[in-house]
Amino acid sequence: MTTIVLSCLASVVVVLFCQLRTPIIFSSFSQEAPAPASSELTLTSTLTSNCPVPTSSVKEEEDCSKNFFELASEIGTDKVTPHAYQHAYELYLPAVRHTSVKMMEIGLGCDMVYGPGKSLDLWDRYFTHVNTSIFFIEYNRECAKKWEHPRKRVIVDTGDQANVTFLNEFLKNHGHEYDIIIDDGGHTMVQQITSFQNLFPSLKSGGLYFLEDLQTSYMRGYGGNYLNPSTAIEYIKGLIDAFYGFGPSTDIIGQIQNINCFHEVCVFTKK
Ligand SMILES: C[S@@+](CC[C@H](N)C(=O)[O-])C[C@H]1O[C@@H](n2cnc3c(N)ncnc32)[C@H](O)[C@@H]1O
Repeated sequence: MTTIVLSCLASVVVVLFCQLRTPIIFSSFSQEAPAPASSELTLTSTLTSNCPVPTSSVKEEEDCSKNFFELASEIGTDKVTPHAYQHAYELYLPAVRHTSVKMMEIGLGCDMVYGPGKSLDLWDRYFTHVNTSIFFIEYNRECAKKWEHPRKRVIVDTGDQANVTFLNEFLKNHGHEYDIIIDDGGHTMVQQITSFQNLFPSLKSGGLYFLEDLQTSYMRGYGGNYLNPSTAIEYIKGLIDAFYGFGPSTDIIGQIQNINCFHEVCVFTKK
């Protein structure tokens, strides 16, 4: 008798459990949206997008959702290798990422094992605004020629970053008022200092100059050596002295708002 009562109770519990679960499972299925048709995957306005500017493809939408480090790692530029420039770029770039940026980078990557155009791809995918313009200066003529107009928003110019006549010609042709300038060129002392002195004044107010690969100031092969007065690092130390009113002053010091040095890269903001 006890067995019969217990098995009846067990059946009632099973039936109740099934009745409770069925509607819950059903309701969760009934709330699922139907899969979008492939034509609906094209995004045309911010209404359907998480990106704050209009995107025109799923690819652009995906790029927009990635930060500097994620995009740079996926593309494969050495900016996110042990250089670890992400700490500098992540601090400054998100504020301007979706604005109409005018930027220039020295160095396409023609001598890199991974090949040219990695940072070009990075900037073209990172900056989202349709009116953004991206300029490159590259010394290797043959390589630069192949990349002259690789994308709608990008122009590559052939020239030497240590040649003042070329730099002035470049500025005459492409204008001033840059938001961002990046030196990732030849990394010798003369190249880094000459480019900085001649290009920094062409930043707009609030513009940023990223001087990469400053570790070469300690490498003889690039003209560097610890405390050698002709290195880029000693030049920067001189700027800091001048900033505090000591040592020889230069014209450029009056244009610098701040200097922020990270591992192997310093960032200069224009007043
Ligand atoms: C380190 S690679 C640039 C890497 C690239 N920006 C990237 O993230 O993949 C340096 C580039 O600067 C170029 N370069 C070397 N000397 C130069 C000079 N004097 N003027 C302009 N470009 C130079 C090299 O040909 C090479 O393409």
